[in-house]
Amino acid sequence: MRSAACLLSVCLLVTFLFAGCEGQLTDAAAPQPITFIPEAPANLAASIPQPSHNPLTAEGIALGRMLFYDTGLSANGQVSCASCHQQDKAFSDGQALTQLGVSGKALLRHAPSLANLAWMEGLFWDGGVKNLESVSFGPLTHPDEMGQDLNKLLLYLKQHPVYPAQFRSAFNTDSITTPLVFRALAQFQRTLISADSRYDRYMRQESGGELTSLELKGMALFRANCGSCHATDFFTDNQYHNNGLGSSFSEEHEQLAFGRGRITHASQDIGKYKTPTLRNITLTAPYMHDGRFNTLQEVLAHYTSGVKPSPSLATQLQQGEKLGIALTQEEQQKIIAFMHTLTDEHFTSNPALVNPWPR
Ligand code: HEC
Ligand code: HEC
Repeated sequence: MRSAACLLSVCLLVTFLFAGCEGQLTDAAAPQPITFIPEAPANLAASIPQPSHNPLTAEGIALGRMLFYDTGLSANGQVSCASCHQQDKAFSDGQALTQLGVSGKALLRHAPSLANLAWMEGLFWDGGVKNLESVSFGPLTHPDEMGQDLNKLLLYLKQHPVYPAQFRSAFNTDSITTPLVFRALAQFQRTLISADSRYDRYMRQESGGELTSLELKGMALFRANCGSCHATDFFTDNQYHNNGLGSSFSEEHEQLAFGRGRITHASQDIGKYKTPTLRNITLTAPYMHDGRFNTLQEVLAHYTSGVKPSPSLATQLQQGEKLGIALTQEEQQKIIAFMHTLTDEHFTSNPALVNPWPR
């Protein structure tokens, strides 16, 4: 059904183009333009980091948004970045190990939420990708994600009714190349900024920022017990830790289960993963790099009584007689109540981040 609808919109697009006068796009056919560059929220940072070779421009962001939502980029015309990174789920997909790629085969890791990526120091659960300019290559070409041949991708873009003009306005060039595709996607992803939850408003002392006494108690408990890793208003320290999910780490799939250890080849990093942000955590279940927990209750049960020993286990999780973090049921509920204040409905409905293509 989805692909039929897409096909229809492509047909409509083409019809409108040829019906329109001299390549003038009609409003109905053109992707929605956006002419904005977001600002950094005060409690996050002073500015949005951006490399000098790829500064944010309104046109580049708009192009990246078109690419992010375009299923035409995939081998079978049915999968886009947004298939696995859905706005209403804070750009995650609700599946433990997603089967939404072109092959329908399950991936080996859970699709994370995409938020505040501009400030993230390593990408992917193991930090194996260093920057947003290089993150798109994997999903575009992986046979179980978008499965695309990059030469075919370029041909598609060059023959498209809208892209050549948009590349020209974004990058001032008539030659469409893969580095430019990656740059535009990176620009759009830098605008996936989430900092308008009730918690943020509380931190900025804005209206709508009231926290209940239960939530405030939860915040204090969270900061004391979880905040060393889920640190700052990004809720990550941008570091890698072993939070006790397993005791042994399989060598299968080129040592994928080694986590950070697969990237650094250091034995002390085996079983460590990047601390994920907890922003919008109520929207991004299931949890952990393999989506093993369905609820926040299960996550808290893990930290209090499910932590497993292994050589790289985080020292924060081996303080008492028992492994893990000692928390009563009541304390766990308070922490969960606090985590509910991190949901940012402005982010999940922000019109600047929705699918720009006519449907
Ligand atoms: C078939 C599902 C699927 C598609 C399609 C897909 N992704 Fe992902 N994405 C994932 C999974 C799974 C991961 C986790 C990979 C890992 O950590 O090893 C991921 C990770 C990421 C990350 C890292 C986020 C972080 O917090 O480290 C970024 C950024 C990203 N994807 C962007 C994109 C872009 C851009 C596209 C389109 C070009 C795309 N994805 C298409 C499933 C998908
Ligand atoms: C030692 C550092 C550390 C501490 C302390 C810690 N976490 Fe984590 N947390 C992590 C890491 C690393 C992951 C990802 C692990 C993985 O997937 O393999 C994670 C994952 C999570 C997730 C899943 C996020 C997602 O998107 O899947 C939640 C929820 C969570 N932690 C909540 C908490 C809470 C609540 C506490 C305190 C009771 C806490 N954490 C304490 C490091 C830590």
